[in-house]
Amino acid sequence: MNLPPPNAETETSREWNAKRYASEARFVIDGGAPLLDLLAARPGERVLDLGSGTGALTRAIADAGARVVGLDASPAMLAEARAAHPDLDFRLGRGETLAFEHEFDAVFSNATLHWIHDAAAVVSGVRRALVPGGRFVAEFGGHGNVATVTAAVNHALDTLALPGVTRPFSPWYFPRLGAYASLLEAHGFDVRSAWSFPRPSAMPDRDGKSGIAAWLAIFARELMAELPAAAHGSFTRLVEDHARGALFRDGTWWIDYVRLRVVATPAL
Ligand code: BEZ
Repeated sequence: MNLPPPNAETETSREWNAKRYASEARFVIDGGAPLLDLLAARPGERVLDLGSGTGALTRAIADAGARVVGLDASPAMLAEARAAHPDLDFRLGRGETLAFEHEFDAVFSNATLHWIHDAAAVVSGVRRALVPGGRFVAEFGGHGNVATVTAAVNHALDTLALPGVTRPFSPWYFPRLGAYASLLEAHGFDVRSAWSFPRPSAMPDRDGKSGIAAWLAIFARELMAELPAAAHGSFTRLVEDHARGALFRDGTWWIDYVRLRVVATPAL
């Protein structure tokens, strides 16, 4: 997870609420299982888990016998990961300033890279971190990810036109498959495989909040912190009304995720 500076962990904090993430965004971790299969970490390998979050996937990599370092930019996530997995090596650091020199057999990253706009800095740091013959296995939001959610948010912001609230809302980096593959090649990788595919993810209503409002509370914290408290109710209703037709099915909200998954190796 890459993040703005640390802050108190309140409902509208800009910092991650790591406990809430662990319990309510479990689908992010579950969605990482196929990526673990693709990584296929072997005993004794050195693996960097870039954006290790609460450490659940770092644990799985360690359990495969690899020597894993979990790196995350969020102090709250690190604290949660260290408490849950005290035997593992978690470090504070940002994806765009990786300082590893040919130290890892694999760099693994799940649901993190869409938070980092300087993708070139990430990719060149990953390339430098890998040994010859290493591999980069990553999944994150691709072009079109959460497009309906974002359109609904922008519709609500345009309708409310609240002074001081940044518009349009577009905080993430969701590249097209071809553009990301080209970026990898430009930074010394051979792309072994790359996919882009929709993965709608159920977000149940919780604590009196609709699934889409619960999703925004976790993943659009900065925006929610920017909105005046008095506007939260009308903002949420506008978002729900705009997105319901596309995202509410069989009594559940489905977030319109599109994943981009890549496996790349240092070019020969
Ligand atoms: C994602 O995993 O695709 C994602 C998560 C939070 C915000 C935006 C995208």
